[in-house]
Amino acid sequence: MGASGLFISFEGIDGAGKTTHIDALAAAFRAQGRAVVLTREPGGTPLAEKLRAIFLHDPMDGLTEALLVFAARRDHLRQVIEPALARADVVLCDRFTDATFAYQGGGRGFDLEVLCFLERVVQGVNGPGKPFVRQPDLTVWFDLAPDVAALRLAGARVADKFESQPSAFFARVADGYLRRMQADPRRFARIAADQSVEQVRQDVFSALRAPGWLA
Ligand code: TYD
Repeated sequence: MGASGLFISFEGIDGAGKTTHIDALAAAFRAQGRAVVLTREPGGTPLAEKLRAIFLHDPMDGLTEALLVFAARRDHLRQVIEPALARADVVLCDRFTDATFAYQGGGRGFDLEVLCFLERVVQGVNGPGKPFVRQPDLTVWFDLAPDVAALRLAGARVADKFESQPSAFFARVADGYLRRMQADPRRFARIAADQSVEQVRQDVFSALRAPGWLA
């Protein structure tokens, strides 16, 4: 058997500092000779990037928001993620469905049962063998207190619809992530994102070394 594909997602409230670490991991996998697909949600395909712009900037109700982000996810899975995994590439995805449960479910208070239904339909894979619901092999959760994240974000850039929410919103988002982790703890690596950048980097790399994915 050759190497199999690897699907890793990165999560956390805005300001938790995912980006630097995702880039470092991409470099490490490439140094080991793996093909890496660096991508993000909402987005990752031309259609999904158009939906992202609408999703992030236009006012809409919770159901519209959920439908848009899952529509973008469907296109992303079909065009990018599933083909990459079939080639045995490493897919590093900046946010995935846990963000929908945290932001739309936790932050906005949108119906979790509807999100669960959409997750099953949108992420359903009918390959050879039994149908299943695609999930990341590992989700790296950058866990940061909402007040610390708010300080980091202040003045950093023009805020989108979510970044301009009050800190109570981010407390609910953080709680949404926690509940997702509790529902499937083995999929998650929880990283304390209030440490130095170097310590966070070490913790992220340890989480990828533990299952033997990085040397
Ligand atoms: P993010 O990916 O962090 O991009 P940037 O670093 O450019 O701000 O931001 C995307 C925003 O979209 C972020 O505030 C979280 C939000 N979001 C949701 O509300 N639901 C989702 O399902 C996803 C994937 C993102």
